[in-house]
Amino acid sequence: MSFNILVLCTVEPAERWREPLRRALPDDDLYFDAAEVASEQVDIVISDSPPQGVWRQFSRLRMIQSLWMGVDRWLDDASLPANVPVTRMIDPGMVTAMTETVLAHVLHAHLRHDVMRRQQTQQRWRELFNPVAAQRSVGIMGLGNLGTAAGRALAALNFQMQGWSRTRKDLPDVRCFAGESELAAFLAASEIVVCLLPLTTATRGIANAEFFGRMREHSVFVSLGRGPQVVEAALLAALEAGRVRHAILDVFMEEPLPPAHPFWTHPRVTVTPHCASMAQPESGAQFVAENINRLRAGEALLGVVDPVAGY
Ligand SMILES: NC(=O)c1ccc[n+]([C@@H]2O[C@H](COP(=O)([O-])OP(=O)(O)OC[C@H]3O[C@@H](n4cnc5c(N)ncnc54)[C@H](OP(=O)(O)O)[C@@H]3O)[C@@H](O)[C@H]2O)c1
Repeated sequence: MSFNILVLCTVEPAERWREPLRRALPDDDLYFDAAEVASEQVDIVISDSPPQGVWRQFSRLRMIQSLWMGVDRWLDDASLPANVPVTRMIDPGMVTAMTETVLAHVLHAHLRHDVMRRQQTQQRWRELFNPVAAQRSVGIMGLGNLGTAAGRALAALNFQMQGWSRTRKDLPDVRCFAGESELAAFLAASEIVVCLLPLTTATRGIANAEFFGRMREHSVFVSLGRGPQVVEAALLAALEAGRVRHAILDVFMEEPLPPAHPFWTHPRVTVTPHCASMAQPESGAQFVAENINRLRAGEALLGVVDPVAGY
């Protein structure tokens, strides 16, 4: 059985995906322009950030596949059909890229390169004594595909690892906390906090004044999930108060970050332009093909989004 597959890219350059997807799905008909196929003939839509209301026109959809790992914007769309599975991207290439980013930021914070950078701007020679990783505690919020891999890599470097998730996990070398009631204990145990949560009703604004108040004095906050998880004014206040020594931010309430935003010039903030882990067409196409072949074979799909949990 072959499928009619519409690839609807609104942010990603469609060109990057064309050949990898064609190679991975040689027996299916792929369309990269909605004008090339009647909407009622489309079996599967693959998209990055679909326009609101787009789903009404498709009457025989069997599966909707995201090119991105986060699908927060999708679930607000009232036209999203309730009876068609939405599957998110679980790309080993993106997981590796995110692990590399987390390692870079955690090592930077652990070795206090942020402090040395500030000293350099003052031409100040002050040697810093840094403990080794085994004496440094790192906490990861979100122990899914990304958080688990990053936690494993940090544990291999001997960091004291903490993790926090919605449901309890049992991971080697990671002390696992779960649920709202254990967030405070998780924060109290972590000198460097890395957020890798999906954006849901429960995680929107989670990093608020109370959250920063519960972080350890002079800790480092690394935000790699989604911008609206952070109450930016609360973070600025925590930086001023010294509660947070440095913030490394990849995602923001408004993207691109507006030119006048205080994060751009704040001496204790590192800004990266939402590129902690970018979609990787070669490995991503393999995952998409695996899922579509599962649909073809009547097997369980991977990465099915739970619309109630929101991820
Ligand atoms: N900055 C970037 O470049 C970039 C790139 C890719 C992805 N991302 C972001 O990273 C997010 C995570 O991706 P993933 O593939 O690791 O997701 P995932 O596999 O779905 O894992 C999500 C984790 O978050 C936990 N979680 C969800 N809601 C929670 C809550 N209310 N309280 C505590 N824990 C909660 C989940 O708990 P359970 O295990 O109990 O379900 C799970 O451990 C994506 O949704 C996306 O927003 C960012």
